Amino acid sequence: MKKKIHLVVGARPNFMKMAPLYREFSKYPAEFEVKLIHTGQHYDERMSDFFFNDLGLPKPDIYLGVGSGTHGEQTARIMERYEQSLLEDKPDIVIVAGDVNSTAACAIDAVKLHIPVAHLEAGLRSWDRTMPEEINRLLTDSIAEWLLTPSIDANINLQNEGIPAEKIHLVGNIMIDSLCEFKDKAKASEILERLKIRAGEYCLITLHRPGNVDNFAGLDTIISAFSQIAEKIKLVFPIHPRTRKQLTAFGLDDKVAAIKNLLLIEPAGYYDFIKLQMESRFIITDSGGVQEESTWFQIPCLTLRPNTERPITITEGTNQLIKLEAKDIVTAAEKILAGETRQGKIPDNWDGKTAQRVAAIFRD
Ligand code: UD1
Ligand code: UDP
Repeated sequence: MKKKIHLVVGARPNFMKMAPLYREFSKYPAEFEVKLIHTGQHYDERMSDFFFNDLGLPKPDIYLGVGSGTHGEQTARIMERYEQSLLEDKPDIVIVAGDVNSTAACAIDAVKLHIPVAHLEAGLRSWDRTMPEEINRLLTDSIAEWLLTPSIDANINLQNEGIPAEKIHLVGNIMIDSLCEFKDKAKASEILERLKIRAGEYCLITLHRPGNVDNFAGLDTIISAFSQIAEKIKLVFPIHPRTRKQLTAFGLDDKVAAIKNLLLIEPAGYYDFIKLQMESRFIITDSGGVQEESTWFQIPCLTLRPNTERPITITEGTNQLIKLEAKDIVTAAEKILAGETRQGKIPDNWDGKTAQRVAAIFRD
């Protein structure tokens, strides 16, 4: 019997995770009816529409338009609206990805209506419950029927939490499917020419974790470190809307503008951002996905966080955690500029075939 599947997206990192699945399931129209659900957690053109274009996703079948709010407001709005969609559309399976509020909210809705949920990117743990994402991961994994993991460490975490082995499927890293599919298109991006920068001669920055940008001291420390690093290398900083808002709220706009060698730009589209990553000398980030993509490109990555739910990017890849102290950030950058880097290796199953492995589970 044909299965009706909802693929849920909400925030920027969901789009590159769901696009490969959308394409794969669509290859079997006799077996699956696939619908794309967008909660609208991210809604700016540059945080949402750009990715539909670059990743070849169709317009969502259902758009919930929830927008921003506090955690309680946003989660409640998603749950209220998606429950209605579930009651009307009656899917057989709901697939959610990652760790954003849309992930947990839609999973809870579905499970309470006895619709089984698959969690893509299951089993990652930072062991830090001050992170909203950790709560979303724990909630979603504890109620999902299929736990689709990116790497073996995630399987071990889930087994240690008592999740039955038959629910856990090591499928690989779905973000890498998008990288493999679109890296040639990204290579052709003209973002370097537009920004008048040269390959290998800049550091790429992304920042948006509340722990880094929602308090004055943290954000001020980071900007001070950037101003020192900018004396040695150009910095390119596509700024997340949360971070832009916080810079202004903390009166830090002038301090950033005073860093001559720093290019502050709008959030980049997928091809442009991938191009910026692959041609950078190194990356400074607090993004989950960027830790993984930089490992795949074997570009050195400094992650401004005390922990990571993606430890394989450190043990096998090019990532390292850096304390939120200006001198630690600057020293780590200087070491990279002095050539102290390691190449790392690409983890198993980060091979562009994750969507195939996921579809195979549901075809069975
Ligand atoms: C969310 C996710 C985070 C993920 C990040 C990816 C949660 C709890 N957090 O964080 O895990 O790493 O997305 O980018 O789900 N805003 C805009 N335009 C938009 C979207 C947001 O201006 O299109 C601004 C609003 O002021 C909003 C703020 O950014 O209040 C934060 O947005 P929100 O979705 O709550 O969290 P993110 O920080 O984006
Ligand atoms: N990304 C992008 N443009 C940007 C910043 C990030 O296309 O300006 C992509 C990045 O390549 C990765 C994904 O967005 O595929 C990561 O999303 P984000 O950092 O917003 O969220 P996280 O992974 O931290 O949850």
